[in-house]
Amino acid sequence: MIYIVLALLILSNLILFYFLNKKKIKKKIFKSKLKPVSIEELHEIFKTNEISNNLRGPKKEAIVKNFCISPDNQITGMTSDYESWILASLSKISNNIFEFGTCSGKTTYIMALNSNENSKITSITLKPAQADKMLKDQKDNKISFRNLKSESIYEKFLFSGTEVEKKINVIFENSINFDESEYLNQFDLIFIDGGHTYSVVKSDSEKSFKMINRKGIIVWHDYVPGKESAKDVVKYLNEISENKKIYHLKNTSLSFYKNYY
Ligand SMILES: C[S@@+](CC[C@H](N)C(=O)[O-])C[C@H]1O[C@@H](n2cnc3c(N)ncnc32)[C@H](O)[C@@H]1O
Repeated sequence: MIYIVLALLILSNLILFYFLNKKKIKKKIFKSKLKPVSIEELHEIFKTNEISNNLRGPKKEAIVKNFCISPDNQITGMTSDYESWILASLSKISNNIFEFGTCSGKTTYIMALNSNENSKITSITLKPAQADKMLKDQKDNKISFRNLKSESIYEKFLFSGTEVEKKINVIFENSINFDESEYLNQFDLIFIDGGHTYSVVKSDSEKSFKMINRKGIIVWHDYVPGKESAKDVVKYLNEISENKKIYHLKNTSLSFYKNYY
């Protein structure tokens, strides 16, 4: 009897330890296969200015217009504030931007607020009725497929009715059927944050490699080894990193590819 009590005690302590240290344990078990790099390696606009011997600050190119959404607002599928700032800064130097996955339009709005007057942003997304028609591929993770549907709930966006809406073109279409042939070699920045299932990430990424221009950057959201809903993103990026230089941006869930690296 005493052994059973002891075993139960050890087991409950182990479970408690796991839940208290879940993030650290997952990080140890699920190591990133992509090389982690600092933000300065993404682009020189992120190099900092020395203010004093113990203080460095952002260059003017990385001072952006940003906003936060209160968690009470319960918007799904957003980037973190740090990730938003990175995408906002890149938008300042991008004239032609493409986004896979609009959702609430938070990132689209931030990209429109920061890009120059004549820039264009195209974002592709699904209406609820279109998402209902999506079929799960054999290779697709169940949770990612469920999220794909639960995140396809908006037909109006945070930028709707704002001054910058004129820069934005939203395409309501399953990105797997999207014909990229009209958009080859055009984009300075592509943000891949649409469906997180293997079939969609693969299709969006393969199209993006054809759509970025000579100096273009592709950024993926949700490279988080160990996170169930990001499993297919991690799997696909790990696979292609054998042949393509894809990097993981430290302290973020972003990974990126630069055409000119
Ligand atoms: C994670 S949310 C995007 C979040 C948004 N990029 C942001 O930063 O606020 C995913 C979006 O991708 C869209 N999506 C999922 N699968 C898609 C597909 N096959 N084609 C087009 N859009 C898709 C969903 O409708 C949803 O709007």
